[in-house]
Amino acid sequence: MCLMNICLVESTKESEESDLVVMSQTRKRCRRIFRPTWLIFLTICVCCLIHIHQVYTASRQMLGLKKRHKSMLFLSQERKMRQGRALELVVPPQEEDVADVDKNPANCDAKKSVFFLKTHKTGSTTVTNVILRYAEKHHLSVGLPPLRHWQLGGYPSFFDPKIVDPQLPVYDVLCHHMRYDHVTVRKVLPLNAVSVTILRDPTANFESGFSFFRDWPYPQWFDNASAPDSLRRFLDHPDSFYNKSTPWHFRAKNYMSFDLGFDNERDDLQYAESLIGEVEARFNLVMITERMEESLILLKDLLCMDSFDEILHIRLKVRQNSARREVSSRMRDQMMTWNLLDTNLYNHFNKTLDSKIASYGKERMGAELRKFREMLDKIEEKCVLYYDELHLKPWISRIKLKRNSGDFCDKLSWGEVKFGDFIRNFQRHHIDTAALPQLSNDEINQLLRHAQEKVIGEKASLYSA
Ligand SMILES: *[C@@H]1O[C@H](CO)[C@@H](O)[C@H](O)[C@H]1NC(C)=O
Ligand SMILES: *[C@@H]1O[C@H](CO)[C@@H](O)[C@H](O)[C@H]1NC(C)=O
Ligand SMILES: *[C@@H]1O[C@H](CO)[C@@H](O)[C@H](O)[C@H]1NC(C)=O
Repeated sequence: MCLMNICLVESTKESEESDLVVMSQTRKRCRRIFRPTWLIFLTICVCCLIHIHQVYTASRQMLGLKKRHKSMLFLSQERKMRQGRALELVVPPQEEDVADVDKNPANCDAKKSVFFLKTHKTGSTTVTNVILRYAEKHHLSVGLPPLRHWQLGGYPSFFDPKIVDPQLPVYDVLCHHMRYDHVTVRKVLPLNAVSVTILRDPTANFESGFSFFRDWPYPQWFDNASAPDSLRRFLDHPDSFYNKSTPWHFRAKNYMSFDLGFDNERDDLQYAESLIGEVEARFNLVMITERMEESLILLKDLLCMDSFDEILHIRLKVRQNSARREVSSRMRDQMMTWNLLDTNLYNHFNKTLDSKIASYGKERMGAELRKFREMLDKIEEKCVLYYDELHLKPWISRIKLKRNSGDFCDKLSWGEVKFGDFIRNFQRHHIDTAALPQLSNDEINQLLRHAQEKVIGEKASLYSA
C-alpha cells in the first residue's frame, strides 16, 4: 500500500504530459524508489507492527480486560501477579497422589441448582459458605434475604417468594434460613434441583440454642436464663416454662422440625414417622453435623464438584468451651423426650448417612476422609490466627485470620449475611432482572417485617438479629 502511494504521488506531478509518457516515466521513478534496501526496511517495519498488534490483542483477550485501557507493560505485570496468586491458592496441600482422590471419578457435570434448607444451631453456616462459593464459581442465581439480613422469604413465617431479592421466576440456589414450605419453595426451584439439609444431635442442638438465644424466648421465662442451673430447671418442668404466647417460643422445642416446616409442638410417634417419610422424599441428602466431613464429601459427590478445595472450610461461629454447660445423661434423655420430632429425625438420618456411605464405598470414604482432614488442618493452619470473642455475642467465637492469609481464607470466614451481600452485588453482572419488577431494599424489609409480625409480634421482629 505505502509503496503504491509513493508512485501515485510521483505520477500526479507528471499530469501535464500525455498518458503514455506519464506511465513510462512513473515506472522509471518507481523503479528508482524501489531499491532493495528500502524494500527490506519497510517489510521489517510492517512485520513488526503486525506482531506488536497480535501480542497486544492476545494479552487483552487472555485477561478479559477489553474495556480497560492499560499500557502493555502494566498488563504483563498484572498477569504475572495474578498467575502467582492463583498458583498459591490452587496448589493442593499434598501434591503427590492428590489426583487419585481429588478428581471426581464419575466425570459428571457440575449440578446447576442446589437447595439447602438451613437449620439453626447445626453448623449450617459452614454449608452455606460452601454452597455460596459454588454459586459464585458457576454464576448461579441466588435468592437472598434483604441487605444485611439472614431471614429468607419472611422467616420465621413460611417461605414467601415475594420476600426474596432479586425477584426471579426461578432460582438456582436458595441456602439462607427459611421456614420450609414444600409447595411454595418448589415453585421457584428447577425440578432437578439437588436438595440438602442438615441435622444435629438434638441434645447438642437444644443445649446450643438454649445458650445462644439471649433475646427470645428464654429471658422471658427465667429471672436469669444464663444462670448455671437454668437448663436443668427447664428440663425438669419444660411445660411450665414453654409459653406459646412468647415470641420465638418455637426455638425451645423441635426447632429443626420447625425450620423444616413441621408442627414443632406435636409429640406423637405417628407424626414423627410421617416426617421421616416426607424428608426422605424431599431431600437428596441429609447431612449430619457430628459427621460434617463425611457429609461434605457426599455433598461434593452429589453436586459433582471438581475438587476438595470446594468443600474446604474453617469452623464458623464455634462457641467458646467455657460457654458450654454441663449436661448429665438424665438431662440428655429429657432433651430427647422434649424434642421427640427432632430426635426421631436425627436418629433415622444418622443411620441413612451410614447407608449412603456404604454405597459410596466405605474404603473410598475412609481414604478421602484422611486426605480431606489433612487439607482442613492445613487450611486452618494457613488461615486462622485464633478464635476471637465476638463483641456483641461473647458466647460465640469469631475467627481472627492471620495477616496476609489471602482472599481465599477471607472468603472462608464469611457468614451467610456477608457472603449473601457479596453475592447480591456480584450477580448483578450476570442476572437479567428486567423481566420482573424489582423491589427496593426498603420494600423487601417492609415485607419481611410484616411477615414476621404475624408470627412473632411487633416487638420481637425488631430484635430478630
Ligand atoms: C446471671 O447468671 C450469670 C451466670 O451465673 C451471672 O454471671 C450473671 O451475673 C447473672 N445475672 C444477673 C442479672 O443476676
Ligand atoms: C404466657 O405469656 C403471656 C405473655 O407474656 C402471659 O400473659 C401469660 O401469663 C403466660 N402464660 C403462662 C402460663 O405463664
Ligand atoms: C450416629 O451414627 C454413628 C455411626 O454409625 C454412630 O457412631 C453414632 O452413635 C450415631 N449417633 C446416634 C446419636 O445414634
